[in-house]
Amino acid sequence: MPDFQLNTDACISCGLCVQDCLPGALQMVDDRPVMSQPERCIGCQHCLAVCPQGAISILGQKPEASAALAWPTPDTMENLIKGRRSMRVYKQENVAPETVRRLLDVAGHAPTGVCARKLHVAVIDDLAVMNAFRQDVYARLEALTAQGQLPDNPRSQYFAMAAQMWRDGKDMIFRTAPHAVIVSNAKTAPCLVQDPLIHLSYFELMAQSMGLGTVWCGLLYWVLQLMPDLMPRLGIPDSHELGYAMLFGYPALTYQRTVERGLAQTHRVSW
Ligand SMILES: Cc1cc2nc3c(=O)[nH]c(=O)nc-3n(C[C@H](O)[C@H](O)[C@H](O)COP(=O)(O)O)c2cc1C
Repeated sequence: MPDFQLNTDACISCGLCVQDCLPGALQMVDDRPVMSQPERCIGCQHCLAVCPQGAISILGQKPEASAALAWPTPDTMENLIKGRRSMRVYKQENVAPETVRRLLDVAGHAPTGVCARKLHVAVIDDLAVMNAFRQDVYARLEALTAQGQLPDNPRSQYFAMAAQMWRDGKDMIFRTAPHAVIVSNAKTAPCLVQDPLIHLSYFELMAQSMGLGTVWCGLLYWVLQLMPDLMPRLGIPDSHELGYAMLFGYPALTYQRTVERGLAQTHRVSW
């Protein structure tokens, strides 16, 4: 149940909460918002966010626990988006647990289709665990390569290359990262593919704003598809489908400036 609570002393009957209730779970009754159809509530918390009086609590969340809005400037956002880089060299140390926790919390606020919030986030936040995982992955890739058991598809050239590079002391898959997040989504989620990618996009921007390095890890995504038995060991539930993976940690180099790429191919529609 959404547990909609109204502070009737504070409510000014403006009706904004009802107006902004996407699924129509709220209605004005005798000049007050009432959750007349709780089964429709998708848990988006728009009612709590929009109320000018801070009169609404929902899902056990109280407005006092929310922060007042203070946006970054467009210049700051532009700098972050153009200045974030894929990091491929990391310090061999753990990120402070409170930093990881904050990152996960903020990323957990990324939108999900129909506000389904059915994501599962597997986190490797300990360098020793990451090293053991890394070691295992490369050992298995080495074995598959040596036994000629890599599947007959274009990805296998990258797997073979990664195994060779590991022998040469280079970490092509994990890019020396101390940590990883692997996001999966419930197979029943309405936006199965999109939710994990959006989650990780927010994760990345927040991480980089905190001075952390990140890199999207397509190679780990492929490895997990090649070795699906690793997924339960990462804690990914059977009910979930692999979304994508990202590596992160304290960077071992610093970039000095943005890169400028110009617009993506853009078509201005006329009708
Ligand atoms: C979906 C996706 C998968 C990626 N997979 C990898 C990867 O496996 N390894 C890697 O080093 N970089 C990976 N990258 C990073 C891209 O190579 C990188 O974004 C691109 O070279 C541009 O550099 P920038 O991110 O610094 O702007 C991936 C990026 C995306 C968006």
